[in-house]
Amino acid sequence: MPGRPFLQIPGPTLVPERIVRAMSQPIIDHRGPRFAALVGACLDGLKRVFQTRTGHIVLYPGSGTGAWEAAIVNTLSPGDRVLACVNGHFSTGFARTAEAYGVECERVEVPYGDGAPADELERRLRADAAHQLKALLVVHNETSTGVTSNVAALRTALDRAQHPALLLVDTVSSLASIDFRFDDWGVDVALTGPQKGLMLPPGMAILAISEKALGASDKARCPRAYWDWRPVLERNRRGEFPYTPATLLLFGLEEALRMLDEEGLHNVFARHARLAEACRRAVRALGLAILCRNPAEYSHTLTAVVMPPGFDSDEFVRHAHRRLDLSLGVGLGAVRGKVFRIGHLGSLNDLDLLGGLAGVEMALKDFGVPVRLGAGLAAAQEFLLGQPISAGAPA
Ligand SMILES: Cc1ncc(COP(=O)(O)O)c(C=O)c1O
Repeated sequence: MPGRPFLQIPGPTLVPERIVRAMSQPIIDHRGPRFAALVGACLDGLKRVFQTRTGHIVLYPGSGTGAWEAAIVNTLSPGDRVLACVNGHFSTGFARTAEAYGVECERVEVPYGDGAPADELERRLRADAAHQLKALLVVHNETSTGVTSNVAALRTALDRAQHPALLLVDTVSSLASIDFRFDDWGVDVALTGPQKGLMLPPGMAILAISEKALGASDKARCPRAYWDWRPVLERNRRGEFPYTPATLLLFGLEEALRMLDEEGLHNVFARHARLAEACRRAVRALGLAILCRNPAEYSHTLTAVVMPPGFDSDEFVRHAHRRLDLSLGVGLGAVRGKVFRIGHLGSLNDLDLLGGLAGVEMALKDFGVPVRLGAGLAAAQEFLLGQPISAGAPA
């Protein structure tokens, strides 16, 4: 189809022209003189995005799933026990990765649509007087449900219980879009991928690591070779990698970090919050329900929309693609066929969002869902007009 594809999934996101251009250049020698400066710029820029001064950054060619594995194998040993908050498809995957290495997961399961329950987690931590739980695993923004958990509250839970467990946080669909504070929230490992808020093509696993997690990695006994972060940290200090890095992605990352710096992280967060609220207003005006139950936990990077009874959301997503070349997220895990997801993250502005919402309305109507064309768009437009970009996040 002519025109631009409407990739309205919650990542990968559209790659801005500036980043495409930054990646369109000859490959350089990853042991040559130019490379060290590129690595340094990427690591420093990522520290700013993770909001850490003291954390260490490692990155590998890989994906978010690989980053789960890196977080586990470098901090834990087979037979260790961890507390895993499970509130969707991706938090289930994080726990399963730990289990694959013989780590015993005490799962705290909450329904899809809810965030991590800080009170219940605190209760479990207090009950573990012998400090057998070695880590708390949580997904900051559960991409299958559109729910953002309060990581600061989890830090408070750990502190109040005076529990030394490591705090391991998946920030795959929140970093560089939703406020995430590695240092302030006492996070030990935060992991992410490049294909969401960082606006890059997929292909990397990125982690921020605290001193405490570094200490744990000396004692961890999970088998590790590729994902061992010690040689990566060691060689990165000299501007090198112990393997062939994804050179072009690093050029793209350097440019993405420059773009985030230019916009200012707080403006990036405010833009995502504003677009997310416009999307939710559109969904409600169409008479549809949002899966996330607690408004304080609404995700600013995606909205999971409950499909009305009698309609299969996966068929709807296929229909939207066939009819309009519009890509929406399918329902994952327990909500397969029941929700579709609208991504609103990365390099996105008002008209990008409105274009996607127009497509959602058209696809719904064409699919037989009784919606009034324009109702959602008008609600989003009214909100966006009333909230100029400089106004920041809605109250
Ligand atoms: C929250 C979250 N964690 C982990 C992953 C897995 O990342 P990847 O698909 O890059 O392996 C995803 C992917 O969408 C995700 O949204």
